[in-house]
Amino acid sequence: MCAETVGKLVDPENGLIDRSIFTKRDIFEQEQETIFTRAWLFIGHESQIPEPGDFISTRMGTEPVILCRDREGKVRAYLNSCRHRGMKVCLYDEGNTNVFTCPYHAWSFGLDGSLVGLPQQEKLYPGMDKSAWSLIEVAQLENYKGSIWATWDKDAPPFLSYLGGAKEHLDLTLDHRDGSPGGSEAFVGVHKWVVPCNWKLPSENFLGDTYHNISHRSVDLVGIGPSAAQGTKGRRDAELDDAQHVWISFPGGHGVHSAMKPADAEYHEAFQDNPIVADYYRHCYEERKRQLGDKSRLLPFVGTIFPNTSYHGGQPRALCVWHPHGPEETEIWRIFLVDANAPKEVKELLRRYYMRYSGPAGMTEQDDMENWNYATAGARGPIARRHPFNYQQSIGKVETGAAMAGRVATQVTEENARQYYRHWGLYMEGADWGRLLQDNTPSAEAAE
Ligand code: FES
Ligand SMILES: [Fe+2]
Repeated sequence: MCAETVGKLVDPENGLIDRSIFTKRDIFEQEQETIFTRAWLFIGHESQIPEPGDFISTRMGTEPVILCRDREGKVRAYLNSCRHRGMKVCLYDEGNTNVFTCPYHAWSFGLDGSLVGLPQQEKLYPGMDKSAWSLIEVAQLENYKGSIWATWDKDAPPFLSYLGGAKEHLDLTLDHRDGSPGGSEAFVGVHKWVVPCNWKLPSENFLGDTYHNISHRSVDLVGIGPSAAQGTKGRRDAELDDAQHVWISFPGGHGVHSAMKPADAEYHEAFQDNPIVADYYRHCYEERKRQLGDKSRLLPFVGTIFPNTSYHGGQPRALCVWHPHGPEETEIWRIFLVDANAPKEVKELLRRYYMRYSGPAGMTEQDDMENWNYATAGARGPIARRHPFNYQQSIGKVETGAAMAGRVATQVTEENARQYYRHWGLYMEGADWGRLLQDNTPSAEAAE
């Protein structure tokens, strides 16, 4: 797609986005070619495949992928497509195996991807070099604090370079609540469901669309926070109430919403009716402060790692993937995280909180599914498509070179979305990695 065409679709400088990018099939196909074959994509959590031979079925864009642990314990990922006629060689969501045997004609592939079984080879394929017909493996794979990411592009920069300044915010989600690096595990079982929406709408929502809080008014009135038993109102406990919220965009198209606590902030006591849980969180708070010092003031809220992986960093704590099915259909995956060594009382309390908040039956998530559903439908009609969407919120209210890396806003803004779609345009143009990861170009909305 040429720069001129892209320029007509996304105009981040003026905060205008053409509605057709949320519904048109040809644009969707182009996204698969230019974004999902190149960008680093989240494909699973290592706690889903703890033992050699463990596997899960996952996805990269529209294509099915197997994530497994080989005999040596190494994490590997392959296109779930037989080299013979493309049948899926693995039809299960998860399991443990020595070999992936294709159900069609029974070619078999080892955990290292190699073609190990070729029925009637001597008669039908004499002299065939089986090593040339292994499963197609991802070009690069990174296990970052238990979260597993992959790209099909051998020229893509290393994962941490790709993340850039978004790393310290993603860390806040992946790290143990006591501040130790990593130390989280996924709750067994991934919430998966399909929503009639374009994949970019939830992705941009998690860039920090705090403006949409009003659509969760009813659930806020009910009050479903983790310690709701103490009468807490809202969807969460009060841990961020006294914090300075920040919305930050980074080179690469990532955007986060985090919060900085005041230096003299007091610990918010919670869970008084459950001493084990109360003690655990108080201990984690104090330990985190001891380990991280002043850095412990920064707390996560939400963020999106370009293109389609988001996180909920605090309450609830989850990795969210927006798998594209088609221009108007997205398969949502939610992998809930918990400190691996937390007491079972904490895990049980969180498990219940996660279910009442998120997922297809979650009270908060239901509001958003409705929003994304109708927003997609509202981008489809021939009259509607004559009029762009407005992304002009807080234009110009951005600081750079401040204490935090990235383009920082201290009021609710759509700046992260403007930068996200600017990067979307660069991918669609086929920009090289140098341009994709260069510092965000100052625009008409440049730093004050
Ligand atoms: S399609 Fe897999 S063996 Fe034929
Ligand atoms: Fe929401």
